[in-house]
Amino acid sequence: MSVLQLKNGELHLEEVPLAQIAEREGTPCYVYSLRAIREQVGQFRAALAGTPHLVCFSVKANSNAAILSYLAHLGLGFDIVSGGELFRVLNSGGAPEKVVFSGVGKTCREMHEALQAGILLFNVESIAELRELSVVASSIGKAARVALRINPDVDPKTHPYIATGLRKSKFGIPMDQAREVYELARQLPGIDVVGIDCHIGSQLTDISPIVEAVSRVVELASELRKRGFDIRYIDVGGGLGVRYRDETPPSVAEYVAAVLSAANGFSGTLIFEPGRSIVALAGVLLAKVLFLKNTGDKSFIVVDAAMTELIRPALYGSYQAIVPVQPRASAVHVADIVGPVCETGDFLARDRELPVVESGDLIAVLGAGAYGFVMASNYNSRPRPPEVLVDGSRYHLVRVRESYTDLVRGERIPAWDC
Ligand code: LLP
Repeated sequence: MSVLQLKNGELHLEEVPLAQIAEREGTPCYVYSLRAIREQVGQFRAALAGTPHLVCFSVKANSNAAILSYLAHLGLGFDIVSGGELFRVLNSGGAPEKVVFSGVGKTCREMHEALQAGILLFNVESIAELRELSVVASSIGKAARVALRINPDVDPKTHPYIATGLRKSKFGIPMDQAREVYELARQLPGIDVVGIDCHIGSQLTDISPIVEAVSRVVELASELRKRGFDIRYIDVGGGLGVRYRDETPPSVAEYVAAVLSAANGFSGTLIFEPGRSIVALAGVLLAKVLFLKNTGDKSFIVVDAAMTELIRPALYGSYQAIVPVQPRASAVHVADIVGPVCETGDFLARDRELPVVESGDLIAVLGAGAYGFVMASNYNSRPRPPEVLVDGSRYHLVRVRESYTDLVRGERIPAWDC
């Protein structure tokens, strides 16, 4: 990550020493680079120049208000999966007419809110959802613009928990039922069929499944057009992977070029829903070493960040690089890097070779800008960490650390009468 550099023996994000942020804001702490985000958006922009398109940032990857506001300022739209995400987008100045709403379980209330806001598109995932949306839209005299999310049944070759485009997954409408559901959709009141959608999974590092999925969907789109459907949008989903370790994902340019060629001259608007590829490498999680511990069998580095701040290693066994912020020497040791949470599964790294660190040292977990803070929890009553956005030689605190009082906000203690 070019925004992350060792200068004078200290790790900097852009021009700001990470140790300075740790000192002022404490640890654990999430830190993001605005420049890295801007550059990734620029890559999509450049690759899509001349093609009618809409890039909808997938809010679930990082929903901090400042980041959403900046992306809206850059002209991006948003891919949402809940009323909460819609609220965040509108609260950050996002344009509702650039919002697409995905997900298998939209509630009536969420449909209603999205219709009132005037979003661009509902990506509908089942007949039941389609019928419900028809009822909700008709009841308020609106028409919902709809794309059906088609499950193209391709193997995305990623972690099974984040693979969504296989037939056995809960997502989308099977390809062989698609025509029938499109016919139903055009008969339902309050439904305006305008597109087709797919999303086969996340952290995709191989281009071929993406090309395969887009090709299948584009073929269906042209067949639907022949049958009189006004398919104006093809939403190709998100999923482009990043290099956490030694993966070799396609570049944004290669990915977009492959999608465009699979789109085979489609004359409507192509929608992209990238999340990870925009923000993952823009962020680090800063933590402090609390204790070194050796059980005879194993060495542990106990740090003040845990699965509560970053759950990806515990949940998917994901590899995230970890580096000292002020490296001491080149000597390395092998240890598990673990947090204070009372679970054996609470680790950030296992059997990791790391330059020697001591108690009080700072470490940075890299590639933490996507699916980091957003998946954080208060388990073990740990207040969630602050978020900081670096811009050149300054930084903004874009979320304050939670307090103990925040932990009990909303809880009520009844009056005991027994
Ligand atoms: N569109 C839809 C419909 C999605 O379900 C997702 C991600 C995206 C777009 C954005 O995908 P991306 O470009 O970020 O790969 N928590 C997991 C990732 C879960 C992804 C869920 N859906 C992780 O930490 O790896």
